Amino acid sequence: MKNKRLDNLIANETSLSRKQATELIKKGELLVNGKVVLSASEKVDAENDEIVFCGRRLNCAEHVYIMMNKPKGVLSASSDKKAKTVIDLVPDELRRKGLFPAGRLDKDTTGFILLTDDGEFAHKILSPKNHIYKTYVARIRNPITDDEIKTLERGITLSDGTVFKKCKIKILNDEKNLIEIKICEGKFHQIKRMLQFVNNEVLVLERVKMGNLTIDNVLKPGECRLLTDEELKIIRDFDE
Ligand code: URA
Repeated sequence: MKNKRLDNLIANETSLSRKQATELIKKGELLVNGKVVLSASEKVDAENDEIVFCGRRLNCAEHVYIMMNKPKGVLSASSDKKAKTVIDLVPDELRRKGLFPAGRLDKDTTGFILLTDDGEFAHKILSPKNHIYKTYVARIRNPITDDEIKTLERGITLSDGTVFKKCKIKILNDEKNLIEIKICEGKFHQIKRMLQFVNNEVLVLERVKMGNLTIDNVLKPGECRLLTDEELKIIRDFDE
């Protein structure tokens, strides 16, 4: 159905204002199904028409879902006055208004972060109620013991009253200082504080999986790509 005005569509899909979009449309920078359209008020079928603006095809899907390999030193936030954020790393062709990271990783944590403009989806995958586990690999200072694993896996209450629900831990090396840890909450510094609770320390932390979807190892730190519908389903329909 031709129900979306071009100026609104472009303002939504890019970082431009409606006024800036209109000026560029008037200059002949917009093609709909291969034909130049000069009127910003013309309506299009965003789902089915091919819309090329300033030489790039717009992704007009209602929402976008982006997998990023977060590098060290970058904030998991939409914007920041001083520091670089994960949103700053998104290339123009994937950028659109309202993009935010679904969940936070610490500045020094690397790995899988999902960026979207779909608040409902973000809530669904982050809410502990839905038990969508996030999997991390942590290098820790001291070898972990079976008792410590049992304690953490049962769930713990810190001295300040913070409760961390049950988790799952696997030892990944003979030295017992490389572990896989799965949690379904995302509390502030959660894994670091869990390891502190058993007198240990996280030295390096990487998120490798959300639900059952593993980060694409083709992505170098700072790189990102759109998720496919199938990949979205793998995250959303997480089942153990
Ligand atoms: N737990 C942490 O301590 N830090 C993160 O970035 C994610 C989980």
